[in-house]
Amino acid sequence: MTRHLITSAIPYINGIKHLGNLIGSQLPADLFARYQRGRGREVLFLCATDEHGTPAELAAKKAGKPVDEFCAEMHEVQARIAEGFRLSFDHFGRSSSPQNHALTQHFAGKLQENGLIREVSEEQVYSHADGRFLPDRYIEGTCPNCAYDKARGDQCENCTKQLDPTDLLEPRSAISGSTDLEVRETKHLFLRQSTLRDDLDAWINTKTDWPVLTTSIARKWLHDGDGLRDRGITRDLDWGISVKNGDQDWPGMEGKVFYVWFDAPIEYIACAGEWAEAHDLPEADWQRWWRTDKGAEDVTYTQFMGKDNVPFHTIGFPATILGSGEPWKLVDHLKSFNYLNYDGGQFSTSQGRGIFMDQALELLAPDYWRWWLLSHAPESSDAEFTWSSFQQDTNKDLADVLGNFVSRVTKFCRSKFSEALPEGGENGPEEIALIADLQERLGRYQDHMEAIEVRKAAAELRAIWAAGNEYLQETAPWTTFKTDPEKAAVQIRLALNLIPFYATLSAPFIPDAAANMHENMGTSPEWPVDVNAALHALPAGHPFTVPEVLFAKITDESVADWEVRFSGTRD
Ligand code: MF3
Ligand code: ZN
Repeated sequence: MTRHLITSAIPYINGIKHLGNLIGSQLPADLFARYQRGRGREVLFLCATDEHGTPAELAAKKAGKPVDEFCAEMHEVQARIAEGFRLSFDHFGRSSSPQNHALTQHFAGKLQENGLIREVSEEQVYSHADGRFLPDRYIEGTCPNCAYDKARGDQCENCTKQLDPTDLLEPRSAISGSTDLEVRETKHLFLRQSTLRDDLDAWINTKTDWPVLTTSIARKWLHDGDGLRDRGITRDLDWGISVKNGDQDWPGMEGKVFYVWFDAPIEYIACAGEWAEAHDLPEADWQRWWRTDKGAEDVTYTQFMGKDNVPFHTIGFPATILGSGEPWKLVDHLKSFNYLNYDGGQFSTSQGRGIFMDQALELLAPDYWRWWLLSHAPESSDAEFTWSSFQQDTNKDLADVLGNFVSRVTKFCRSKFSEALPEGGENGPEEIALIADLQERLGRYQDHMEAIEVRKAAAELRAIWAAGNEYLQETAPWTTFKTDPEKAAVQIRLALNLIPFYATLSAPFIPDAAANMHENMGTSPEWPVDVNAALHALPAGHPFTVPEVLFAKITDESVADWEVRFSGTRD
């Protein structure tokens, strides 16, 4: 049977992520992982924090902490928030782990051995006051094109002109503001990606089932001259993975580290090693997920990411793997997302605009957010979060449809029969018709989940919930009861059986509510195959309890309050 290796793009360590980041990779990855586990398949679901690079260093500096301490703390913060959203990672690792240090150095060594690395001398801006080389975007100055005085060394935000740091007039360090800058020569390692073009091309051409959006981005990079330019994989920074050739020193590279985009994807692999270590498992246990010579032939590997990450995952990381000449698993399915906007603008970490993951959890339980975000996932185009859509849709889907169904059915049974399933006769035509309809819908739901069509899956699930409500509306057991209590018993028996059925199917989207529903019904999740059998699973006399309100409605007052509270920016 297929085993599923699932990774989510690893979030930067430098701050708490917003809801746009969440729906761009971690949340849909969790949906898929939960679904596959629900189907009884073996899953390894990995994520980690992306801890290297200048942004991490600067965030630590701003927080007044040594960078390693800052990263350790922020990792814990992000891990707790991930738990808050019920992200079911098998391991939430760190790109700064010893495993990733060793593996990144190993890959660099292999690439060197295979003649894929060359050394390049470059001129770069060194800041005396900061005691470091400055990455292009940390040099500011006046744009030679439009005279904007906060242009960055890579681009002018005002007129969008691409710049080199040396183009800037009156350049200064964006970190300290110092103008005591000097252009110095420095040596770096470059990965000769262009020599891998044929291999990459051949590999991409096997991906006939990938969305055009993804393959076209990859092909554009492969063939548009610039895309496959040799890529610098080292930096003059203190914080990061020291440049080594395997476990040997790399002459001339002392004091340098690998570029964050080189080591971050390697963490997908290293994270499996961290997972094994955390569970006291032997090496072979993680290698069977990652090495095709050690059991990974039957693994299906699916990656989740925002669209801006696609080039790194279709070109950059595969180049590292193919170039190593070793039998590491390459990605099979790559699911990428557009952006989620916030109330007519963009979510922005740097500007603190929108709703951040920690704030969201202070307002409401995770299922509300999970449901809205997943059912509005920015798949074919960008999507927009507005408070009114959030309120309307969650109130309707979760409270009016699902929550109301569970509450009506259990309360009616308690008041007219007891807190146990009643004895009932055979299903009539309405029941048979509902079962047939649900059998078809179940098939469609599974197809959408397998294809990771998140919105379509959500829509089908909503329709499955609604079918139960419509059935209740039509058959009206409370009316039937007055004239034909036996028939009412059949109706309510079916409706009560629908609750665990709904719980199991809904768990990937709303795991807490699903767990509550199972608990109230005294059932445990079992993926339905034959709907007729599933809806006869609970025998007469099976006890249940009437749940507390599953989903309280979001009130107009709350929304009015939140709209104001989240209209500005976070400090
Ligand atoms: N930290 C990056 C981002 O948030 C994603 C890194 S994904 C990996 O955009 F492949 F590098 F791991
Ligand atoms: Zn300009």
